[in-house]
Amino acid sequence: MRPLLHIGDVMFSKKKTAERALPRHIAIIMDGNGRWAKKRKMPRSAGHIAGAKTFKDIARYCNKIGLEYLTVYAFSTENWKRPKEEVEGIMNLLRDYLRDAENFKDENIRVRFIGNLEPLADDIKALIEKNEKGSENATGLNLNIAINYGGRDEITNAVKTIVESGMDAKDITEDTISQNLYTKGMPDPDFIIRPSGEYRLSNYLIWQSAYAEYWFSDVLWPDFTSRHLEKAIEEYNNRNRRFGGV
Ligand code: IPE
Ligand code: IPE
Ligand code: MG
Repeated sequence: MRPLLHIGDVMFSKKKTAERALPRHIAIIMDGNGRWAKKRKMPRSAGHIAGAKTFKDIARYCNKIGLEYLTVYAFSTENWKRPKEEVEGIMNLLRDYLRDAENFKDENIRVRFIGNLEPLADDIKALIEKNEKGSENATGLNLNIAINYGGRDEITNAVKTIVESGMDAKDITEDTISQNLYTKGMPDPDFIIRPSGEYRLSNYLIWQSAYAEYWFSDVLWPDFTSRHLEKAIEEYNNRNRRFGGV
């Protein structure tokens, strides 16, 4: 048996992630910021600030280990229901990240935003465009940030586009749907990670995750580290994906 290293409440093998098979595409539901702050008697906004830092660390780590695609859930179509101040706080964090994204430039990370960006503030939309353009030649990690993203909204929009194109119903295939989603041209996520102790998708990548593997943990997103990711990837390596076959 390989030696195991005991770190906190999780066990890690000494084998390097690079030696393991990496999923091509990992998707993360960055959840638990509010509870992280509550535990510390801090405002929810402090949890979002800490969560944003974790996001940057994890994106850098994924790039370093050679992951092809990372898609993170940052704001859902349902999150507008939250108090106005909280939504504004999250949008301001997004602004900070976008302004700061210059820092990512030397890291060769290609950034894309998925979701319905239309309702976002004009300055955010302009910054998003600048970031996507600025990184379009990067050849490292493909980082997708889901903002105002909802899986049902995405599929509904795909259906509208297909109907408007005048396509014959008999010519519509699964691929037609896939090619009209925000993730068009990208591989489906192989592995979905959700921290914070919730066991649900919350409208995330519902079409794309049909055959994904899942990893759940009680760790709150701001406490999530590269070690948790390593552990998750190790577990992914022990899964037997059959895709309906034998
Ligand atoms: C995830 O953390 C961040 C967003 C949904 C924007 P939460 O804010 O949902 O944190 P909890 O679930 O309340 O702890
Ligand atoms: C999912 O988390 C959305 C993001 C992490 C951006 P939520 O906190 O919104 O999900 P529910 O409400 O617990 O299902
Ligand atoms: Mg939550």
